[in-house]
Amino acid sequence: MTQDSLVRRITDFASRADPYPLYRELRSTPVLHEEEGGPYVISSYWDIEALLHDPRISSDAANLAAAGEDPLAGSEETGGLPPSFLRLDPPEHDRLRRIANSGFGPPHRPRRIDGMRGELREIVTALIDGFGDARRIDLVDRFAYPFPVTVICRLLGVPREDEPRFRAWVDPLVANLDPGMRQGGDGDFERTAREARMQLGMYLAGLVEERAKEPRDDLLSDLVNSRGPDGAMTMMEVLSTAVLLLIAGHETTVNLITNGMLTLLRHPPVLERLRHEPDLAPRLVEELLRYEPPVQLVPQRTCITDIEVRGVTIPKGSRIWLMLAAGNRDPERFADPDRFDPDREDVQHLGFGSGIHICFGAPLARLETQIALTELARRLENPRLVQDPPPYRENAVLRGPRHLEIDFDGLR
Ligand code: HEM
Repeated sequence: MTQDSLVRRITDFASRADPYPLYRELRSTPVLHEEEGGPYVISSYWDIEALLHDPRISSDAANLAAAGEDPLAGSEETGGLPPSFLRLDPPEHDRLRRIANSGFGPPHRPRRIDGMRGELREIVTALIDGFGDARRIDLVDRFAYPFPVTVICRLLGVPREDEPRFRAWVDPLVANLDPGMRQGGDGDFERTAREARMQLGMYLAGLVEERAKEPRDDLLSDLVNSRGPDGAMTMMEVLSTAVLLLIAGHETTVNLITNGMLTLLRHPPVLERLRHEPDLAPRLVEELLRYEPPVQLVPQRTCITDIEVRGVTIPKGSRIWLMLAAGNRDPERFADPDRFDPDREDVQHLGFGSGIHICFGAPLARLETQIALTELARRLENPRLVQDPPPYRENAVLRGPRHLEIDFDGLR
């Protein structure tokens, strides 16, 4: 395999429906590196876990740029805004994450997420009721997309009716996450993404100004007005954080819900069990995050010094791709890894990453998906897949079906 073919194979749409045979092959070489300037690809669980905790591995957008990667690679950098904390190292990362966290969840405000349980159930019920007399729906368009989008808009305090406007900006930013699409794309692709980030930032700036004058009970108000031990965010930092949360809240949970329903429909006894045993949901969602994780790889890391992984020296300044989804199926870590087993006792997956950048929205994503799958299992009568495998999104980083058509006999 040449480096070109390594990157191309990982991002190749042909393996999107079932990338796991490829991941098995990747795991057989602990550190895969094909060509000068190409990424070092790491696919086994323990190596990924160690590197995610290693301070010599940087998430900083500036280091990525120096390694020859477009600094826009994180999809939300530049466009007039500074990098969000996803693309920063300590101490700046820690300061911004702590400020954002003070508005988001435990320990400061547990109410924000856990207190949303009733509201989340209401949104889910309304969406399912909205299926009406239909007997065939596209679960993505009718449910898995609108649900988390409504939630993140409410949480941030962004008017839901503006969503079609900013969806046009979010789409190119998300597409730009995919290294394969960037590689194959021309300069226009990157320009569009940069422009989209600027537009989204300008749109949010209007809302942020309003919240600075007149705070409300929402996350944007908290970000603007927080004055904790870490001080305040600058206006530009507030905007970068808001763009990050809006994108993360848009495009990840939709895939977990869709991958989840697809997996349940492929395992009817588990679906039936969830229907009668809603307490299964938390364990089931953890197993899903291992078995079909929405974030397949983290391609935005560089090493700031030479490091050695399993006897291979990765030189300072190299790019590293961490194949989370391959690590999740590593037989050295999980017994019978290709089996979907919600009763698995030990399910410390990499689906939310690990280390200092571990997913900030995990409590919300978990709760949303638990409620979504439990209610779908309870309400849909005799649901069946129309097409297996379903058509997938192009994106190799954020993996999930673009459509998931389901037949069912009615609503309970
Ligand atoms: C970080 C996955 C939902 C906000 C991450 C990372 C992963 C991830 C793998 C680590 C990235 C890295 O190490 O570079 C997921 C999955 C989700 C989900 C699978 C849904 C199932 C959300 C939601 C939000 C969110 C709903 C916001 C409301 C963030 C933020 C970070 C992050 C802000 C950056 C954390 C940091 O750099 O310290 N997510 N995420 N995520 N996620 Fe999520």
